[in-house]
Amino acid sequence: MPFEKLLAHRTRHMSRSAIREILKVASQPGMISLAGGVPTPASFPLDLIGDLSGLVIQKYADRAFQYDLTEGFMPLRQALAAHLSGRDIHVPGETILITSGSQGVLDAAGKILISPGDTVGVESPTYLGALQAFSPYEPHYTPIPCDKEGVIPEALAPLLAKGRMKFIYLVPTFQNPSGRTLPLARRRAIAALIERYDTLLIEDDPYCDLRYEGHALPPIKSLAPDHVVYVSTLSKVFAPGLRIGYCVAPEPIRNWLVLVKQGVDLHTSTFNQALATEYLEGGHLQRHLPRLLDLYRPKQQAMLEALRRHLPAGFEWSRPEGGMFVWVEGPEGTNMADIYQAAVRRQVAFVPGHFFFPQSGEGLNTMRLNFTMPGTVEIDHAIHILGDILRDHRDRSIRVRGKRRAGECVPC
Ligand SMILES: Cc1ncc(COP(=O)(O)O)c(C=O)c1O
Repeated sequence: MPFEKLLAHRTRHMSRSAIREILKVASQPGMISLAGGVPTPASFPLDLIGDLSGLVIQKYADRAFQYDLTEGFMPLRQALAAHLSGRDIHVPGETILITSGSQGVLDAAGKILISPGDTVGVESPTYLGALQAFSPYEPHYTPIPCDKEGVIPEALAPLLAKGRMKFIYLVPTFQNPSGRTLPLARRRAIAALIERYDTLLIEDDPYCDLRYEGHALPPIKSLAPDHVVYVSTLSKVFAPGLRIGYCVAPEPIRNWLVLVKQGVDLHTSTFNQALATEYLEGGHLQRHLPRLLDLYRPKQQAMLEALRRHLPAGFEWSRPEGGMFVWVEGPEGTNMADIYQAAVRRQVAFVPGHFFFPQSGEGLNTMRLNFTMPGTVEIDHAIHILGDILRDHRDRSIRVRGKRRAGECVPC
């Protein structure tokens, strides 16, 4: 049967996540993976999850196993409302929508907002999963100029003034993949801009609780509440396998998102939502978070120290105050896809950065490194190997350039 003929037009715009493919390689025995954005299993409070599961059955009985509201399990929405007030987002539980991971919001947002050819503003690089969620609806991506602190408000203003952006999508805190964080002044400026130009922002905020140093910053949602769909998750601070994400959106958008969710999965797992309720209500997140930070902080320090010791001159990297990633940029001409192949042969995996750019051909000299999965000794060992490979690659390209200059024939 010619199955290709069955495909809807939008399916042709779907591609397998490069990262999911890389993760398959990364999970091979003996490999040190700096590839995924994955919490270490050591961070999962397994005993507690056992206790809370018993409590859920005792407290909610059959209700925990029954169909429930598409909007989400009410006790969880209320517990999240209390949690969000600590982030300067003050909303009643009824306005929170629970989704199957924050990825569930991104897909639903794409479905309700994007018609083919609509313009969506994104950071460049940006979260690959967002591109994957939006792309089937055939948007045109406009990269918003960024520097090491994230979006440059002065460069965003003229893009918004044209009035053609359907929405912008940003990860302002410990961004995936770059690790960078938008400072307060820029958050205020962006909040003012989206209000002035009546533009919708999807603010994706999975990492804000993973702060190893410095002070928390208010989400843009708290500065421009009517113009922001705020998206977050318990994946990074509880367990990603439970698939508990959530969003706070302006009412009409929330209602449309609910319509999509009704068609997709009716609602997120009731049992998992009840478990998450007990995690939040019992104060377990607040108790668990310092342990999580103590687990990740030394790993991040080990990675930054290893980069300083092992990477050759000419390479630069981000020094985020939190999150899960460090972003490395090499000199022009460095091809991280080649480096990736060489690294995998030596049992080290990472994600070449070009996958995170909406326009092809960009970011070839960049890579994303995750530090939450491996141990500190493995991190040092892996970066040592990467340093060797990068030095080798650089020396070879210098030799090739030298030969070119000398007019010799270089095999292509
Ligand atoms: C920026 C960003 N948004 C969304 C997600 C998806 O998370 P969830 O597990 O909540 O679907 C991730 C996961 O890595 C992420 O990095």
